[in-house]
Amino acid sequence: MPQTNTKNTKNTETLSQLLQPYAQAAEADLERWLVEPSVPVALAEAMRYCVLGGGKRLRPALVHISCEAMCGGVTDSARRAAVAVELVHSYSLVHDDLPAMDDDALRRGRATAHVKFGEAMAILAGDALLTRAFGVLAEVDDGAGLLVAELAAAAGPAGMIAGQVADMGLCDVPDGAEGVGYIHRHKTADLIRASAVMGAICGGAEKSQTDAIRDYAVSLGLAFQLFDDLLDVTAPAEQIGKTPGKDAHTGKRTHVAQMGLERSVELGRQITQKAIGALEPLGDRAEKLRSLTELLSERTH
Ligand code: IPE
Ligand code: IPE
Ligand code: MG
Ligand code: MG
Ligand code: MG
Repeated sequence: MPQTNTKNTKNTETLSQLLQPYAQAAEADLERWLVEPSVPVALAEAMRYCVLGGGKRLRPALVHISCEAMCGGVTDSARRAAVAVELVHSYSLVHDDLPAMDDDALRRGRATAHVKFGEAMAILAGDALLTRAFGVLAEVDDGAGLLVAELAAAAGPAGMIAGQVADMGLCDVPDGAEGVGYIHRHKTADLIRASAVMGAICGGAEKSQTDAIRDYAVSLGLAFQLFDDLLDVTAPAEQIGKTPGKDAHTGKRTHVAQMGLERSVELGRQITQKAIGALEPLGDRAEKLRSLTELLSERTH
């Protein structure tokens, strides 16, 4: 994809290298908490397929990194929040790929859940993942209610689902960049914001710190979806693990469709800078979040 000039000049670490230790830890926790006893074998198999084996694990990594920025480590509550948000994200992808929605056959480099298991099982596995996410979060020893409220607001009808409804053209949104902004903010940035905010809460952040993290992560989420739309235009299937060209083919509202590639790249650069600017009040403790943000602006998958 076109470069955004937001070069990661501080070090030569790649996005995969930065995410790897967090992704690995989150995957071990996902293995541990994904399936409860007494789940039908066929359902457990579908749930595992939807969650394990692929994915950048950006959202759980963001929970961990944000928690670490606040208290120097990853707390047990952050580990549960990370699992919960990845379960919600995974369910959202399964449902997003359904024939009634984006009708995609390829996800994370392999068959989508409905292609592999049939539509009914894909819908039910998605339902199971969403419900399980809140079960995992409810078991946080101290302060579960705050985390449940944060995730529910982000994933729910005024959050991610509002974004998906708008993305599908099922409600009115303003014309132009404002409408695309609404869609991106809700379908993608809300969950990314909740990831960072839950991490901050789990790390014992003060209100002013949580506020800074929230502002930061909204911009990060907006940039993330803009780059997703760019990759849909510029990257091959082997690179993104999805069928490219779908947004244009299905007439999705994107910045690329409205203002072209070059201006979208420039907008992505500006939003990335805004995200990094929002970290200013956090000082040195936000260094890893800065690196992550820069690396995400150059991502290739
Ligand atoms: C894909 O998210 C859906 C969007 C919100 C753009 P990711 O690009 O984080 O997907 P995985 O988890 O790495 O597969
Ligand atoms: C997905 O947006 C957002 C959610 C799943 C909530 P997209 O439809 O652009 O994501 P991809 O391109 O299928 O991963
Ligand atoms: Mg979609
Ligand atoms: Mg999609
Ligand atoms: Mg997309």
